[in-house]
Amino acid sequence: MVEKKKKSGDISRREFLKDAGLLIGGTAIGSTVLLAGCSEETATETVTQTQTQTDTKTVTQIQEQTTTVTSTQQVGTVTETQTESRFICPIDGVEFNSLAGLQVHFEAEHGEVPSTAALNVVRFTVNGHRRELQVKPYDVLNEVLRDQFGLTSIKDMCTGQGACGSCSVIVDSRPILSCMALAIHYDGSVMETSEGISDANHPLIGSYIKNYCMQCGYCTPGFVVTAKALLDRNPNPTEEEIRDALGGNLCRCGTYLQHIIAVREAAAIIEEGK
Ligand code: FES
Ligand code: FES
Repeated sequence: MVEKKKKSGDISRREFLKDAGLLIGGTAIGSTVLLAGCSEETATETVTQTQTQTDTKTVTQIQEQTTTVTSTQQVGTVTETQTESRFICPIDGVEFNSLAGLQVHFEAEHGEVPSTAALNVVRFTVNGHRRELQVKPYDVLNEVLRDQFGLTSIKDMCTGQGACGSCSVIVDSRPILSCMALAIHYDGSVMETSEGISDANHPLIGSYIKNYCMQCGYCTPGFVVTAKALLDRNPNPTEEEIRDALGGNLCRCGTYLQHIIAVREAAAIIEEGK
């Protein structure tokens, strides 16, 4: 008989939480009713962002777009600067790691220089990493973040119906359902997923582990993202406010009560650390 690995300890739980799916959203249905719980505390966060962008339209003017983003958060946020680029020629499929490379190729091979708009180029800052890539006008944000950047904490529990919150991502300080968002609409946005929250060792991660907030864990990243967004905007949420904020996240395993306890604990830890 195969022995189950359920009690493999804190390390595996942390990794599991990091990789399990996260989303958030607003389509709450019955989960609010199931959330019962605890009380209120505090969290604080400050973000400073500086972006400088230089864009060009012709090969002779080709300049790498410069985007400098600095994220400094007092609690639980990755501070990192890095750019990852991937461009593919829509005519012959040749791949480049810079927009300039693609534009040079275009001029040499196809006799024209497309604009960044024509190439559907978008730039995001995700978990402190700068990303620039081409998208199709119909590419959905959760698929772009998962498939292009390997952010597999973003789940698709309701298959893009906007009903479960498992695809939640913080975009420009607000949680959104990434399964309902077209990536092309978010050029210039700053995003945060559960990977970034985990990497920054936000107090929510420890409190979620300590309070056994996950069973299968599939919904957990979505809850963590939603909870992080709540604490960012309301460092001292009441039980009612926590239930309301998490109401759009569904859990098939019924872990609702534990989330409220964990969010309250994280808020208290943040308050103590001030
Ligand atoms: S709400 Fe986006 S996958 Fe369910
Ligand atoms: S822990 Fe299994 S779906 Fe929530």
